[in-house]
Amino acid sequence: MTQPVCLRDLQPLVEGKLDAGPLGYFAGGATDERTLIDNEAAFARRQLLPRVLVDVSEVSTATKVLGTPISMPVIVAPVALQRMAHPDGEPGMARAAAAAGTLMTVSTLATATAREVHEAAPDAPRWFQLYVLKDRGVTHALIDEAVDCGYKALVLTVDAPRAGRRERDLRTGFAVPPGIDMPGVTAAAGHSSGLTPADFFSLVDASLTWKDLETLVEAVDLPVVVKGIHAAADARLALQHGAAAVIVSNHGGRQLDGVPAGIDMLEDVVQEVGGDAEVLVDGGVRRGTDVLKALALGACAVLVGRPLLWGLAWDGEAGARWVLDTLKAELELDLMLLGAAAPADVARHHLR
Ligand code: FNR
Repeated sequence: MTQPVCLRDLQPLVEGKLDAGPLGYFAGGATDERTLIDNEAAFARRQLLPRVLVDVSEVSTATKVLGTPISMPVIVAPVALQRMAHPDGEPGMARAAAAAGTLMTVSTLATATAREVHEAAPDAPRWFQLYVLKDRGVTHALIDEAVDCGYKALVLTVDAPRAGRRERDLRTGFAVPPGIDMPGVTAAAGHSSGLTPADFFSLVDASLTWKDLETLVEAVDLPVVVKGIHAAADARLALQHGAAAVIVSNHGGRQLDGVPAGIDMLEDVVQEVGGDAEVLVDGGVRRGTDVLKALALGACAVLVGRPLLWGLAWDGEAGARWVLDTLKAELELDLMLLGAAAPADVARHHLR
């Protein structure tokens, strides 16, 4: 098989391996996919400005998020249905993240339980992404399992009270294939195969407000990271209601189409809350240089979604590992070429 050289090589490699339904579900965005396209285009619009004659003989990509040391400012985004990409699924992704020295975020819509993922790489740090379901019993059981298994934070996703209108799924008639189970969904709905994204998002409690964030923060002895922040004012509200950090994200262009790219929303959020909390960003990160741009605008780390799915679909756990190792190698070289010895040295002046 042709060997990929960079992350963008992967999708064409796996397009023939996946059925049209899963492929469209993984690749697609909402309606006209303007935001999906812009997530990558917005990185291309920005330019880096290297500084020279800086000692870069020793470069390290290592950093910390919420106090946890990681090998690079790149973490695994919560992405649903990973066994639909490859039988290795979330446990394989967890081993890949552990081997690459970084942190994985496990989705409520995972095809393995939080415990199974934990057991796949018990010593690695991990976050659990939470959708608050109408069924609070199931929601609390999910949280308890994550706490019990030593997950280090809850990532509360707030931009998806319902699934966005993903027209690729409508065209392919996508539904969760037989034999693929999402234990969290099954606990709430009795089964998960045959469900459409609209079906499984209808389990999410759309009445959630800031008050519920506060209740969650009070009830759970873990930091709560709010994912899906667009407006700077909401980042401030998140902190006021107890969030430990925020993730600037448009959910990979899958929710409200026509919103700005993640990287374009970042600076306002950093100006509002960057002095008080860590800010992460996602959407369209495909290169070490994209990570540099996010760092320069004040993010402490980025999350990566689709490339890891393509890696998984290509070669299971080893493919996901390849994605993380490739990004890390790019980032190390890019830091040297930018004139920064570590992620913390990347600053606003490195962007033109
Ligand atoms: C997602 N994303 C997501 N987010 C979340 O909070 N919970 C979830 O279950 C999912 N599921 C999911 C499935 C698929 C197929 C995709 C592509 C994305 C959003 C994800 O965490 C992240 O925000 C984006 O994927 C980042 O954009 P890129 O890296 O895919 O461009």
